[in-house]
Amino acid sequence: MFDPGYHVPVLLNEVILNLFELVADHEECLLVDLTFGGGGHSFAALDKFKNLRVIGFDQDKDAIEHGKKFSESLDLHTRISLVHQNFNQFAHTLSVHPWWNPSKTILILADLGVSSHQFDTAERGFSFRHDGPLDMRMDASLELTAADIVNQFSEEKLAEILFKYGEDPFARRLSKRIVEHRKDVGAIQKTSELEAVIFHAYPKKLRHGRTHPATKTFQALRIAVNAELDALMSLLENFKQLQADKCRLGIITFHSLEDRIVKHFFRDLNKHDKKYRIITKSPIIPTETEIKSNSRSRSAKLRLLELSKLEAYVQKHKEKETF
Ligand SMILES: C[S@@+](CC[C@H](N)C(=O)[O-])C[C@H]1O[C@@H](n2cnc3c(N)ncnc32)[C@H](O)[C@@H]1O
Repeated sequence: MFDPGYHVPVLLNEVILNLFELVADHEECLLVDLTFGGGGHSFAALDKFKNLRVIGFDQDKDAIEHGKKFSESLDLHTRISLVHQNFNQFAHTLSVHPWWNPSKTILILADLGVSSHQFDTAERGFSFRHDGPLDMRMDASLELTAADIVNQFSEEKLAEILFKYGEDPFARRLSKRIVEHRKDVGAIQKTSELEAVIFHAYPKKLRHGRTHPATKTFQALRIAVNAELDALMSLLENFKQLQADKCRLGIITFHSLEDRIVKHFFRDLNKHDKKYRIITKSPIIPTETEIKSNSRSRSAKLRLLELSKLEAYVQKHKEKETF
């Protein structure tokens, strides 16, 4: 039910089991897929829950166009509404959408990061494994590219980005080398050029470890170009504003910066407001079998939170009776 050439969904069974746990058979419900990508999670859910509709967001035009064509080929297009938008204002978009009904069960999913299609398309510049322009914009209408950061930012600012978003202990050394390269050789325009600069700036004995020395740098630049952590914070704030009776939110993260934000946000909500319940005390991670068949799933973590006004009401009245 998905196009493996576009993206293989991670933790698919776990999402279907745990996110949809509160949906009764044949119940009319809505999935808000905030990171539609190749639509792998959405299509599987539509196949299983016949009274489900999906509103899918993606800031990448390619994903929206692919989703439209693919849903038509499966004859599912009447149950999917695709929105080409950043998810950072999703609560407002939902509130004016004709399918929005706060009294129905709502499932919200965010599967963060980039799709395999984005990662493997050399011209998008996300990966040092494919040579292409240093771009990394998920939304092609954004102005700032990775090349702008690498070639125009000061050494200090570069080091800050590599340290903050890549957690690279050699951030200072790498940014110094990048700036020297700019002066001595010229601007760094291609993914292969940046990969080579980082590789040679790394201490010799660490150049051939399990992860390539450029991995953290590429992650940091991607996060900066797409303001990914700001978008995640906005997503969580949007969830807080959502006026819904019964709703479950699932977030799949791929690195500790994202996971930390989600974990603390869920804890704070749960601590201060009884209507929020944490479903996953510790995150759900992929099985060995999934990691073997799809190595990109290896760092995935799924956390779930439920919003239930009714449960909060019952809990409050129980407490009153006890006193
Ligand atoms: C990991 S992929 C999702 C894959 C999808 N679940 C599937 O099974 O095919 C992440 C997708 O989310 C999109 N995305 C990432 N951040 C976004 C944001 N802030 N707003 C909207 N879309 C975003 C990316 O463009 C990408 O297509």
